[in-house]
Order: sequence, then C-alpha cells, then structure tokens
Amino acid sequence: MRGLAAGNWKMNGTGADLAEVEALLAAHPSPACDVLICPPATLLSRMVATGIAVGGQDCHANPSGAHTGDISAQMLAEAGATYVILGHSERRADHHETDAQVAEKVKAAQEAGLTAIVCVGEMEADRDAGRTLDVIGAQIDGSLPDGATDIVVAYEPVWAIGTGRTPTLEQIAEVHAFLRDRLAPRFGDQVRLLYGGSVKPANAAEIFALPNVNGALVGGASLKASDFGAIIAALT
Ligand code: PGA
Repeated sequence: MRGLAAGNWKMNGTGADLAEVEALLAAHPSPACDVLICPPATLLSRMVATGIAVGGQDCHANPSGAHTGDISAQMLAEAGATYVILGHSERRADHHETDAQVAEKVKAAQEAGLTAIVCVGEMEADRDAGRTLDVIGAQIDGSLPDGATDIVVAYEPVWAIGTGRTPTLEQIAEVHAFLRDRLAPRFGDQVRLLYGGSVKPANAAEIFALPNVNGALVGGASLKASDFGAIIAALT
C-alpha cells in the first residue's frame, strides 16, 4: 500500500510559509509516498498552485447555509482540496464534536469527492485506566457512517499531540492492529492507517516500520520543509 505523509498546519501559516512548500517540493520531486498538506483555509488556493496535494482541516456537514465561519466540503473541493481531516481531537475538544457529528461530516466529504482522514485517539486518563481500545473502538464505530468508502484513519493519542511524547512502538502497533481488525469487515485491508502525535524526523522511521502503519499525520514538524522532508524520506 502506498504510504501517506499528511501535514496538518492547524492555525499556522501565512503566505510567507508557502516558501516552505516550494522548498519541500524542490527537495522531494518524486517521493515514494503520497504527500499532503492541510493548511488553514486562507491558504488553500495558493497552496494548490504550488502543485502539492492539499486538504481541509474540517468541514461542515451541510453543503451550504447560515453557518457563520464554517466551510463546506464542496467549497474545499472547489478550492482544490482532495482530502479533509475530520474528528481531530482539537475539534472534538474545542468545538465539542461528537462521533455522530464526525460521521455526518464524513458523509458530506464523500459526497463532495473528498477523502476523509478520520481521527481517533485516547486521552491519557483512558490509557492509564486500560480503556484505550474500548475508547478507540467506540470512536471508530461512531465516526464512520454507513456507506463510507474513501477514508483514511489516523490514530492520534491526545496526550501525544504537540507534547513531544509518543506511545511505545508496541502500543502503536497494538492500536493499529486493533483498527485493522475492526475495519476489516467493511473495508478489507484497504484503509490507510496513519499514526499521529509528535512524529519527528528522529522517530519516523521506527514508527513507519511497524505493521499496519501506512503513514503519518504530522503537526508541528510539517511546518518546516527540512523536518517534513525527512519524515517523507523515511516513508518508503
Ligand atoms: P503534532 O500534531 O505532530 O504536532 O504532535 C499532530 C496532529 O495533531 O495531527
């Protein structure tokens, strides 16, 4: 399965940062994996013009309407996006998004022709209490609508995002094997499973060597061409 290195710029990046994308493309003209950046919506069109694949960071479940501040999946697609991140833990925490709402957004994304990157991950208290797989099982079941087809799933432990901490390799492998099994009845083994949470050049290769890890969702390290480039190079 071809790997996917997806960068999540979150609420970071202005026009000046497009130079990082140009540097990345110059350094990695034909990577061995798919490369995607999900910039803030303000940069979508300009980033598309660099030639890199681009995704949204969220979308509304409706195609249009009175929803101040929101963006629909169709709008993302029209701007040139081919993917959209849905159910990121920061959306679940900051905007109280539920699994059911994420599932509605996945439907909207599919209708617009976007590949949804559906995020799941446990809080530290869940892991400490031995509830990790229960929490992730409920999230994945609840966040995927009936009829979902074109999806990527990202396992992102909430406590590993932006903290410099990562699970052990055994813990990552355990969750990815669990997700693979859980998705098998509906998708076979065709869904790309990404790990996310403090992926850096120094730990990327060992994470990518794990079974059922098909790439990464990268936050902080995707903002710098040199760091994201090293992660891309580790994903062969
Ligand atoms: P991080 O973020 O790489 O900065 O930990 C990952 C994410 O939130 O997708």
